[in-house]
Amino acid sequence: LWTVDDLSNLSTSYPQITQAADFIRNNEVVAFPTETVYGLGANACSDDAVRKIFEAKGRPSDNPLIVHIASIEQLEEIVEDVSGYAYQLIKAFWPGPLTLVLRKKANQLSTFVTAGLDTVAVRMPNHPVALEIIAKSGVPVAAPSANRSGKPSPTQANHVYHDLDGKISGIIDGGPTGVGVESTVLDCTSDIPTILRPGGITKQQLESIIGKVNVDQALIEEGHTPKSPGMKYTHYAPNAPVVIIDGSHKYMQNIINQYEEQGKNVGVLTTEEGLNHFQAQKVIACGTRKDLNTVAANLYDVLRQFDKEEVDVIISESFPLDGVGEAIMNRLLKAAGNNVIVEE
Ligand code: TXA
Ligand code: MG
Repeated sequence: LWTVDDLSNLSTSYPQITQAADFIRNNEVVAFPTETVYGLGANACSDDAVRKIFEAKGRPSDNPLIVHIASIEQLEEIVEDVSGYAYQLIKAFWPGPLTLVLRKKANQLSTFVTAGLDTVAVRMPNHPVALEIIAKSGVPVAAPSANRSGKPSPTQANHVYHDLDGKISGIIDGGPTGVGVESTVLDCTSDIPTILRPGGITKQQLESIIGKVNVDQALIEEGHTPKSPGMKYTHYAPNAPVVIIDGSHKYMQNIINQYEEQGKNVGVLTTEEGLNHFQAQKVIACGTRKDLNTVAANLYDVLRQFDKEEVDVIISESFPLDGVGEAIMNRLLKAAGNNVIVEE
């Protein structure tokens, strides 16, 4: 675990960054901060290196990785031509929390990165440490979130340490990440792009630059059929089951009471505004409703805190779908396996 706390002069003051870049060039895996979540980076051109990512995370091999770059020249080496609107989005949002799925150039990247697809997901992260490591390594860097597969993504170095200690070559600690939820994944292989994963850049932001943007039907249907308990699509999941309540504080407290009557230790995920409204084993505020960015920034850490408290169930408030709320609810619904109770 290497700590980097002065982000102003990275190249001269931190031999750790050079070392991390050397590790990546030599096909080892290293975790580093990005502006969204910590990534687990490896040389995207090496089968050997990329296989180490899948092993450390316990990730299914059919789930492709995002390739991180530090310059537009690197983009041109790995993808076929970048279409008009993709180029506009790059100009508007890179470096930043936007991942573009583009047609890949043959024979440049390890086929494990793209899980055999003819497209590749690429982004340029907006974090000085990530950019410096990628640039110094001299290779495109495949980097999924640096958590064990299925767990909440890491927004602090200690989350990575908890999940991956002993399985990877190092962790660069650059403090808590800013955005807190992962990048928006946008499929740019059609005339109109499609959001595959809501994230740090919102649909409204994208549309303000290029006009119409589609949303993957699967995302819409999940959001609209939240009561289906059979859909146990767990992901971003803490140890305890999560139940989302769409209703008043009073309604939510009634549900909490019902669990407590069954002898369960209940954790409550609320915001600063809700702190005084709930009584339970553990009540945690995840940011403030006045600014949903604060909820996004704290979400994964709060889910991980409930693991430490060993609660039996987590009862969570739901959030409006404006802006980054879309990404917050997408992750919460997955953590909850779509288990939502709506007040009649
Ligand atoms: O913010 C982020 O995106 C973080 C940081 C580390 O950059 N990374 C991240 O990576 O969240 P990961 O591997 O946890 O999520 C990558 C997502 C997955 O949902 C994957 O299925 C999708 O991107 N993906 C990757 N390549 C794709 C492709 N060629 N086509 C469609 N989806 C793809
Ligand atoms: Mg992930």
